[in-house]
Parts: sequence; structure tokens; C-alpha cells
Amino acid sequence: MFSFFTRKKEFSTTSIFSFLQVDLHSHLLAGIDDGVQTESQALEIIELFQQYGYRKIITTPHILWDFYKNTPEIIRTKLEKLRFFLQENQIDLPVEAAAEYYVDEHFLQMLQNHENLLCFGEKKYLLFETGFLNYPAFWEEAIFLIKANGYQPVLAHPERYVYVQNDFNFLEKVLELGVLLQVNMLSLIGYYSLEAKKTAEKIIDANLAHFLATDCHHIRQAKTLQNLVQSPFFRKVQNYKWLNQSL
Ligand SMILES: [Fe+2]
Repeated sequence: MFSFFTRKKEFSTTSIFSFLQVDLHSHLLAGIDDGVQTESQALEIIELFQQYGYRKIITTPHILWDFYKNTPEIIRTKLEKLRFFLQENQIDLPVEAAAEYYVDEHFLQMLQNHENLLCFGEKKYLLFETGFLNYPAFWEEAIFLIKANGYQPVLAHPERYVYVQNDFNFLEKVLELGVLLQVNMLSLIGYYSLEAKKTAEKIIDANLAHFLATDCHHIRQAKTLQNLVQSPFFRKVQNYKWLNQSL
């Protein structure tokens, strides 16, 4: 006999994230960072994203000079390989690429040299991250240079940084410098930590977030995203004015 109370609630995953339209943070170029390692793995995730209702994917490999020495050329070559693979498998979801820049000495140097950086959207959004515990000493200089080079800085997953979790007012300084904030969907379902979840909710409640993204590295994360639908916070997320749609 079925028990009403023990049966797992089932729901359709079709179009659950169609309100976002575009995902702008993921690691789907094979073998160049800690994301997917093969084009088949990327395909599995992209098929699922298509089912979720996304109409475009902007994937953003790490550029973190101590670990992932990715250049625009490496990224473009890998993107072409993925596009070809998707075409071969009759997947017609458009995929573009930019990067997730780690604020390190190398990043600062590229900015000082006015090198062409990978960005997305008409406003030239540049996605960047910092270390999880502390922000770098040259943080303000980096933001100033990003803007001086004609890019619009977007801070990836502010809710995951311990320095933000411990000092929420820090975000005011960040916003005053003209930085936009990108929250991770997985943070909202407690995937990383309770602190990250609480901070993500606080950012959205205070209307400080601009983008909502998957930051997907592998199929397990891609599947876990579905749990957001069952979160009491989902309605708020659905009704929020995200900039994703403008991309
Ligand atoms: Fe990322």
C-alpha cells in the first residue's frame, strides 16, 4: 500500500529555469579546469540545461594562473570543439565562452597591459572571483582597472566568501565600486554550506543580486539544481529581476 507521507514528491524538471533564459557561469569546456573532462560530460549537462529551459549557455573556465593557465586562444579552441561535438549530436543550444578570472598577480598584470579579456554581453561583463577566505590586498586596484579597461565587473558567488559571510557590509563597498553580484543557485539549496545559503538569501532579500547562475562543474551539480524548485525561496527567485535575460 502506498503511504502518502513516505512517497517522494515528484515534479517535472521541464522548463523549471526558463525564467532565467541564459546561464552565465559554468565549467563546461573539457579538460582545461576543474569542470568537465570530456565533451560527452559537457553534452550530458547541456542536454539537461536545455530541458530546464535555458536558451543559451555562456560557459566560463577558470583563469587562475597557479593552476589553470588558460588563454583566450585555448578557450576559443575548446569552445569550437564543444560546438562541433554538440552539432554532431544534434544539440542546438547556443554555447558561448568567456572566463572566470581569479584576482591574482597575473590578472592584475593583464589589466595593466590592457590585454583583451574574455567578457560577455553588450555591457562587456567580466566575471571574477577571489580566494574564499580573504580578498586580495590589491582588490580595489583590480576593480578600478577592470572598469578603466572598459569592462563591467561581476563578482562570482559573493555568498561563498568567508569575508562576506563574516562582514555583510563589505558588499556595500563592493557595490559602491560599481561591481555587480552573481549568486550561485546551488548556494540557495545549501549545497556548499549553511552560511553560504543564509548569505545568498540575505543578498537576494536585500535586492543586491544581479545575476543567478549554475557554476556547474559536473553532472551531479547539474542534477542537484532541480532541488531549488522545492525550496521555499524558489518563488522569490522566480519573481526577482535578474539581468540573465538581457544576455
Ligand atoms: Fe566557477
